[in-house]
Amino acid sequence: MNVLTFRNEDDFAQTGANLIASLLQSSPKAVLGLATGSSPLGVYGKLAEMHRKGMVSFAKATTFNLDEYVGLPADHPQSYRSFMNEHLFRHIDIGLSRTHVPRGDAADLAAECSAYDRMLEEEGPVDLQLLGIGSNGHIGFNEPDASLTSGTHVVKLLPETREANARFFERPEDVPHQAVTMGIGGILKARQIVLLVRGEAKAEAVKNALQGPITTQCPASLLQSHPNVVVLLDEGAAKWIR
Ligand code: GLP
Repeated sequence: MNVLTFRNEDDFAQTGANLIASLLQSSPKAVLGLATGSSPLGVYGKLAEMHRKGMVSFAKATTFNLDEYVGLPADHPQSYRSFMNEHLFRHIDIGLSRTHVPRGDAADLAAECSAYDRMLEEEGPVDLQLLGIGSNGHIGFNEPDASLTSGTHVVKLLPETREANARFFERPEDVPHQAVTMGIGGILKARQIVLLVRGEAKAEAVKNALQGPITTQCPASLLQSHPNVVVLLDEGAAKWIR
C-alpha cells in the first residue's frame, strides 16, 4: 500500500482529486467508484473546481456509488443520492443517467442488489474506487462481522454506525436501521482503490486496517490483499501509523 500523510487539508483534497483527474485525462470513459461521508468532500470540491477551470471532463465517465440507506427515497435530503448530486454531480458535466447509486427505496431490495451487481459486471470493472472508513473499520456499509458478503446486499447497521451518522439527521431515531451496500468482493474488484481518511477519531481504525491482521472484524483490513491501494490520511487519521 502506498500511504501518504498530509498536514494540509487542501493538499489532501487536491491529491485525491488529481488521481481522478489524471485517470479521466488518460481514460475519459473511466468507471469511478464513489463514496459519501466527510472524508471525500474536499476531493469533490476540488474536482468541481478543476472542471470549472476546464481541467477535467466527466462527460464520458460512469460512476457507481458504494451504498445507500434503506427506506430513503432518492430525493430525501439525507440520501446518498442527494449527497452525490449536491456535492459532485451538479457541479460537473456528467449525465445523471451515467451515475449509479443503489435505490434504498426499491420495493424488492434483493432484486435491486442483483441488478446493481449485473450493471457493475456489464460496465465495470471500476477503474478507481474511492473509499472512506467507519470508526469500526467498515468500508461502504460492510460492518465488522464473523463473515462478510461478496456481492451487493442489504446490511443491518451497527449501533455505532447509526450513532456516528446521527449528526446528519434531525433526530437520532431518524437514522435508518439498514442500508444497501456493495459487498467486499465488489469493492476489491476495482483496479485501484483510494482510501481517504480524515480525523483522529479514525486513527485506530486506520491502524487496524493497515497494520492489523486481515480479519472480517475489520472489513478495511481486507484492503491489504489488494495489489493497488493508495491511502491518503490527514495527520489525525495517521496518529498511530509509523
Ligand atoms: C458512512 C459511509 C461510508 C463512509 C463512512 C465514513 O458510514 N457509508 O462509506 O466511509 O460514512 O464517513 P466520514 O468520512 O464522514 O467519516
